[in-house]
Amino acid sequence: MLGDVVREAALGDGRRPWWRTAVVYEVYLRSFADSDGDGVGDVDGLRSRLPYLVDLGVDAVWVTPWYPSPMADGGYDVSDHRDIDPRLGTLADVDALLAEAHAAGLRLIVDLVANHTSAEHPWFRAAVAGGRGAPERARYFFRDGRDGGDRPPNDWISAFGGPAWTRVREPDGSMGQWYLHLFAPEQPDLDWDDAVVQEEFDGTVRFWLDRGVDGIRVDAAPALAKVPGLPDAGHAPGALFESARWVDNPHWDRDEVHEVFRRWRRISDGYDGDRVFVSEAVVAGPERLARYVRPDELHTSFNFDFLRAAWNAAGLRAAIDGTLAALAPVGAPPTWVLSSHDETRHVTRFGRAASGAGTMGFDAASPTDLALGLRRARAAALLTLALPGGAYLYQGEELGLPEVEDLPEDVLQDPTWERSGHTARGRDGCRVPLPWSGDRPPFGFTADAVRPWLPQPGSWRELTVAAQRDDPSSTLSLYRGALRLRRTLPGLADDAPLTWCDLGDGVLAFDRGSRFRCVVNLSDRPVSLAGQGEPVLTSAPVAADLPADTAAWLRTG
Ligand code: NOJ
Repeated sequence: MLGDVVREAALGDGRRPWWRTAVVYEVYLRSFADSDGDGVGDVDGLRSRLPYLVDLGVDAVWVTPWYPSPMADGGYDVSDHRDIDPRLGTLADVDALLAEAHAAGLRLIVDLVANHTSAEHPWFRAAVAGGRGAPERARYFFRDGRDGGDRPPNDWISAFGGPAWTRVREPDGSMGQWYLHLFAPEQPDLDWDDAVVQEEFDGTVRFWLDRGVDGIRVDAAPALAKVPGLPDAGHAPGALFESARWVDNPHWDRDEVHEVFRRWRRISDGYDGDRVFVSEAVVAGPERLARYVRPDELHTSFNFDFLRAAWNAAGLRAAIDGTLAALAPVGAPPTWVLSSHDETRHVTRFGRAASGAGTMGFDAASPTDLALGLRRARAAALLTLALPGGAYLYQGEELGLPEVEDLPEDVLQDPTWERSGHTARGRDGCRVPLPWSGDRPPFGFTADAVRPWLPQPGSWRELTVAAQRDDPSSTLSLYRGALRLRRTLPGLADDAPLTWCDLGDGVLAFDRGSRFRCVVNLSDRPVSLAGQGEPVLTSAPVAADLPADTAAWLRTG
């Protein structure tokens, strides 16, 4: 079976599944485009902007959760997995979106949040209301506390800070059992050993595949299994949720999670049209990640090692080599990503001394040189889009948007802010609504005079789509140019293997086939391009030398 997968990948013709090389654009729906003037982005807003995405040149769109939700965690607290939140649209709107996206040649990926539900989900409400022994409690992790019930059942921690347990008040008014939530208290974890849970999600996967979606992103994939008995993890007091380092942790990356993925894969294999599962799996390195994309499990995965790497040639090369080496044996395509709705925008990260990404909005802010960050971000875009396999773009990175670091405290919504005792501002700064046009907020995101759900900085007037569209030196033009060339240049269009070239310390240089070379200068000195080929796209003006923090795509044959 593995042989078949690898052979199929190697064909490089019409039989190569689209997702092996796709550029997927992440739409954080609340912040993309608002059609009805309530200040919150919605499905019809996305529909209205499909031509923009086609013109940009991406292959697919991943839409973050749009399900009914109290929005305790931006929609990752789902109270009905098979409907649309009325603030965001209707199932009929989604059907129209799918039809229009497909007619325009775009694929659509939805987000499946299966580790937890909302605390407002009917199951959890019944579990609390039914008291001890309610059958619905078996679908979650309800346990008695330690020391007579007053202390949480174990030492597990929440990704947003603080303990992973909250105590409920029983129907008779007494303080009662505790329930587990690896994320916010409004997101109780489901027990995936429970057959009702398994069957319910089989139905949900089918529901969306039947509706015609091209793929499903699996939220928090490594969380779906816990060690029976729920033993202590040994977390130190105040420990952070550092899932990228955990090995043999009782609530993360257990072997049993893979049973769930095999189950879903059996379902998706019954559908036509190359449907794809994408895992969101922050785990301890590429070898662990490769386990999520074995031939009978999920098809692809987000690549957090690359995302978290600092702006440093050796570190990036190690992330690239580690990824390629780990994924090749399982036949899964590599993917590359720089930003998402969970991470400090990379224009800002790359402008800081510590340029790697943190954990769930816990990265300590340090002084930021935004001009330097943008310069590096543009070079990083050419690096990312020149690597083999697929790539994920996060809305607004094509505009060079920075993190909004000065949001007023009273608008912050990310649970990290409260759960960290106001020490970490969380992820709102990367979720500020997009600037489309005009010279003041709301920049065409919503109707004039309406306040977007997070305020946009006035300085974004220079970064709107309208301001950048016809400027050949803009970041938007750079992304459009790169995405076009990626479809046509030999080496990129045929997904040729990567071969490194040695151009000295601090320089990443590689060929894709015999006619394409990418050179990225992460050193502090210019690098001669003499004899390297004819530049076809550069992230900044280039003469004979490639300046520091600049990338070039070159035709070599
Ligand atoms: C990962 C999602 O990307 C993030 O936004 C969310 O807070 C957690 N999973 C919990 O669902």
